[in-house]
Amino acid sequence: MMALKEKIEALKRQRNAVILAHYYTEGDVQDVADFVGDSLALSQKAATTDADVILFAGVHFMGETAKILSPQKKVLMPDMAAGCSLADSCRAEDFAAFIAAHPGHTVISYVNTTAEVKALTDIVCTSSNAVQIVESLPKDEPIIFGPDRNLGNYIKNITGRENMLIWDGACHVHEEFSLEKILELKKEYPQAKVLTHPECKRPIILVSDYVGSTAGLLKYATEDTSTDTYIVVTEPGVLHQMKKAAPGKTFIPAPPMDSTCGCNNCSFMKLVTLRKMADALERMEPEIVIPEEVRAKAEKSIRRMLDISKKLGFI
Ligand code: 13P
Ligand code: SF4
Repeated sequence: MMALKEKIEALKRQRNAVILAHYYTEGDVQDVADFVGDSLALSQKAATTDADVILFAGVHFMGETAKILSPQKKVLMPDMAAGCSLADSCRAEDFAAFIAAHPGHTVISYVNTTAEVKALTDIVCTSSNAVQIVESLPKDEPIIFGPDRNLGNYIKNITGRENMLIWDGACHVHEEFSLEKILELKKEYPQAKVLTHPECKRPIILVSDYVGSTAGLLKYATEDTSTDTYIVVTEPGVLHQMKKAAPGKTFIPAPPMDSTCGCNNCSFMKLVTLRKMADALERMEPEIVIPEEVRAKAEKSIRRMLDISKKLGFI
């Protein structure tokens, strides 16, 4: 492990590379990264880094977002098979047909989408800024929101938007959490607060004390002084930074419906390993490649998100 970490460090210097990692990756992967963050912060880092190479320790759509924002840089992925069930639930050709069937709508897409879907989109959003991006539009503006139905319904409930059509997609990890098991945990730990990602289903949102992006959950868990125990309802990789930031507190990963191990890993994120990171830096592949026509269109929708986020003080 130590030798691998040293190899990654040496290759990183040699290639003038920066390593960006999402909170859902393994702890040892997060520990070698130059920056660990949620989707919004990672996209902003990708847009501003002066490295020649970005090694993206995350899933495919995150690497694509980095390439869209930094086309002159080489964006390497440790494993090209690290996909996303939510992005897969919205194929570009189907989404294009949906948009064509509902003309006159502003299209807002969650960042968990392919570059092709982003190219069909007016404004991208992440779970950090989705509510505010929707609220930045006039109250009666017709909106298409995709692809996450749970996040879409969460936003619709908070903003009271009537004119919002929601794509019927979901993330298999967040859909699998069990309300019953969370309620059992609450009985066992009555002092615990429930911290939930908005990709979860509504009944779980309703029993939660705080709902937010991975960065939001981490911030809340670190700053909250009302208790020292938290049931965390999202991919358990985020617990690595929670434990580091608040070592005296107890973090309990929420279990999925059917589980023998009690954990609810995103198998795509867990494909990222130190070995594959070292190999990618050594071979300078696999690399994200996006046709320029698609990239340029997708960039517009991501830049609109970054501009709105900057204006609202998110980044
Ligand atoms: P965040 O934007 O909160 O980092 O979430 C990304 C993700 O893939 C959630 O499943
Ligand atoms: Fe995609 Fe779900 Fe994994 Fe996030 S947790 S990367 S939404 S499959």
